[in-house]
Amino acid sequence: MNYDLVINNGQVIVSKKGQLFSQNLHIGVTNGKIASLSSSPLSGQLTIDARHLHVLPGVIDSQVHFREPGLTHKEDLETGTRAAALGGVTSIFEMPNTKPPTTTREALEDKIKRAEGRAWVNFAFFVGAAQDNISSLRELEKSPGCSGVKVFMGSSTGSLLVEDDENLRQILRSGQRRVIVHSEDEYRLRERKHIADSAKSPLAHPEWRDAESAVRSTERLLRLARETHRPVHVLHVTTKEEIAILKEYKDIATVEVTPQHLTLFAPDCYETLGTLAQMNPPIRSKDHMEGLWKGLLDGTVDIIGSDHAPHTIEEKTKEYPQSPSGMPGVQTLVPIMLNHIHEGRLSLTKFVELVCENPRRVFGCTTKGQIEVGLDADFTLVDLKKQRRIENSWIVSRCGWTPFDGKHVTGWPTHTIVGGHLVMQDDHIIGTPQGQKVLFE
Ligand code: DOR
Repeated sequence: MNYDLVINNGQVIVSKKGQLFSQNLHIGVTNGKIASLSSSPLSGQLTIDARHLHVLPGVIDSQVHFREPGLTHKEDLETGTRAAALGGVTSIFEMPNTKPPTTTREALEDKIKRAEGRAWVNFAFFVGAAQDNISSLRELEKSPGCSGVKVFMGSSTGSLLVEDDENLRQILRSGQRRVIVHSEDEYRLRERKHIADSAKSPLAHPEWRDAESAVRSTERLLRLARETHRPVHVLHVTTKEEIAILKEYKDIATVEVTPQHLTLFAPDCYETLGTLAQMNPPIRSKDHMEGLWKGLLDGTVDIIGSDHAPHTIEEKTKEYPQSPSGMPGVQTLVPIMLNHIHEGRLSLTKFVELVCENPRRVFGCTTKGQIEVGLDADFTLVDLKKQRRIENSWIVSRCGWTPFDGKHVTGWPTHTIVGGHLVMQDDHIIGTPQGQKVLFE
């Protein structure tokens, strides 16, 4: 059999009976699907020799902001997905706080149309919940290409906000899929905004948007989730207190953390990066960072997402708090986490659980997230020994910077394969955009 693509000699991360392990296998791909997993080398029209490499299911980044339409001076769907491909990410789920926000069928269909033929990786879009679209969420969440409904309980970039319990309850009652939530208590943020206004330094960011703001909001959300029996996914959790609470709510809530909250900590990050380290919810103390690691290793955390949220350097260097919150991350998620693997903080199979298997389970994209015959041929190949320095010059995101500029890492994505097409090899983009709409159960 002559396959379209074969990946020979790699250490392939496979799943058997719920256990992930690495096995020396040869992979044959036909028509964008995994057609063979073989113990002897295969031949195909294109052969990748993955000797010395690990072959992962394609990495899914389930939280990115790609800014199109309306804010394309920061990013667009072509540049954002190009950054994803260079960083070893094969699918992205994009956030609704664009301009206009993705709160209607027209806005969702417009985004899908814009992505088709321009996206380098697979894509799906979240619709935003707002006070005026609650009655249409049940239908909207069923649309092809929709990854679910997102709620901002605390305001961040853009105008989307549902701060009160009554509207939140209505949203949770309108539909079935897991609702994803930015959890910060808007009432407390408003009460404490004077802290940011008078400080004029990003060191005050985690004080304004303090741990209690996150905890209060998450407690309210979890109560409502239990009351309405609606599953929720708490995005970018930042406090050790929330991890302890969420551990008791695994029946109804899944949990995301970001690489930046696992890597950077206050006050150091604000002293070295200034407003570049400003994001919502904030980077907090080392103590909270260690709490997130604990939650990651004990199974409380389900997913690592980048919260890729690019702003231009000009915007970011405005005086705090006029500086916008958010930092890019889709291109650095894999290298940063591989470096944590190198440093012994987690295993490669745990990483695969967090960025492949669990996104598949949590969001129901069942043709992805595992290496198995019949599933989509999305792969992330990584060299666990490769040493590199992350640099702004490598970043292809339109914003052109990363908070990790200058960081030495061990572990690097070497190939990105999307639907059987090689789109990145050794830091070069190859061919034409091949991303397809992600399908959900
Ligand atoms: O820091 C953030 N930036 N947090 C968010 O929730 C939104 C994001 C953005 O879109 O800029």
